[in-house]
Amino acid sequence: MRISVVKEIKPQEARVGLTPAGVHELVAHGHTVFVEAGAGDGAGFTDDRYVDAGAELADQATAWARAELLVKVKEPIESEYGFLRDDLTLFTYLHLAADRPLTEALLAAGTLAIAYETVQDQTGLPLLTPMSEIAGRLAAHAAAAHLMRPAGGQGVLIGGAPGVAPSRVLVIGGGAVGTQAALLALGMQAEVTILDTSAQRIRQLDGIFEGRARVLVSDALTLESEMRQADVIVGAVLVPGRAAPKVVRRAQLGLLKPDALLIDVAIDQGGAFETSHPTTYEEPTFEVDGIRHYCVANMPGAVPQTSTRALTNATLPYVLRLADLGPEAAIDADGAIAQGVNVRDGRIVHAGVAAAFDDLASTPV
Ligand SMILES: NC(=O)c1ccc[n+]([C@@H]2O[C@H](COP(=O)([O-])OP(=O)(O)OC[C@H]3O[C@@H](n4cnc5c(N)ncnc54)[C@H](O)[C@@H]3O)[C@@H](O)[C@H]2O)c1
Repeated sequence: MRISVVKEIKPQEARVGLTPAGVHELVAHGHTVFVEAGAGDGAGFTDDRYVDAGAELADQATAWARAELLVKVKEPIESEYGFLRDDLTLFTYLHLAADRPLTEALLAAGTLAIAYETVQDQTGLPLLTPMSEIAGRLAAHAAAAHLMRPAGGQGVLIGGAPGVAPSRVLVIGGGAVGTQAALLALGMQAEVTILDTSAQRIRQLDGIFEGRARVLVSDALTLESEMRQADVIVGAVLVPGRAAPKVVRRAQLGLLKPDALLIDVAIDQGGAFETSHPTTYEEPTFEVDGIRHYCVANMPGAVPQTSTRALTNATLPYVLRLADLGPEAAIDADGAIAQGVNVRDGRIVHAGVAAAFDDLASTPV
């Protein structure tokens, strides 16, 4: 099969769809891989490394035109819509329910569009988890950095010092983001509490942390009591397919320490704090009622080398299956890939996307 990787042109996106190691695997399976010249620059992969791995370099138009399977990171933006075709399979993050123009472009072109974020196996959402894990670790970095005075913080070292108490980090939601945020904060010797509403998840967390972090069921009273004591609160909740539940309301900001820092990782799902709005790395924080909020919506974008490797580690088994079997047979054989199909033969087939656009052609399965 002919597989292409193009340079991401969405602003602030430096990741790339495949690493040279991923290209090498595909070539070893007998496939031809085209890589747009410069595609890996932002992620630290030179053209030479792709060529050494067996790729053929191409310009943007050629890479799109030769592809039977196009492996990307972000959804195509408007200037790429013209490259969509009915004999193309697109495998990337799509987030179509929030993107009507792209949904219409995919329908009009007849492209087979498989979205990373809806590929689902028995473990959950395997192509979203790696970015959550990275965002979680970055949340602990952000906490440490923004507690320091040069970044406008209260001027404390997150883990304290010998004889000086550490900061208290409250993580609300102990999933992929929350677990990694807690692990890294603990590694910096902060005092960590994790709250979750799922009894099953609480049990798993108890096993993971073995008493090093306090793991508690989140009810209204416990939440308020923990909020009062926290120096940092990390919002890491998720209810799949829904906007993030608001776990801290504006009226509750008055309960917090005046120099507490709120880090809302769930901002890409609307935010876990009522007072959050999305920010970027250019200006990551803002204040509401004197309380600092950090709400960067694309946290893994800061570490494209790590993110690209983690993403390829997760996507490559699926890319290999799509390429080896061909997309149609891979969809029939692999339920996880089938869940990823969003648009096919000019119709929306993913129930969530169909629900978002009830006036567009759909056959939800
Ligand atoms: N900002 C970014 O760059 C970025 C990157 C990756 C992920 N995210 C977001 O981070 C959030 C968390 O993702 P995840 O992969 O960790 O999800 P996850 O499903 O692995 O974990 C979410 C956890 O929240 C818990 N939860 C749900 N409602 C709760 C509530 N009211 N109180 C306490 N706990 C509650 C769930 O039981 C679950 O354990 C999502 O919104 C995701 O989109 C953001």
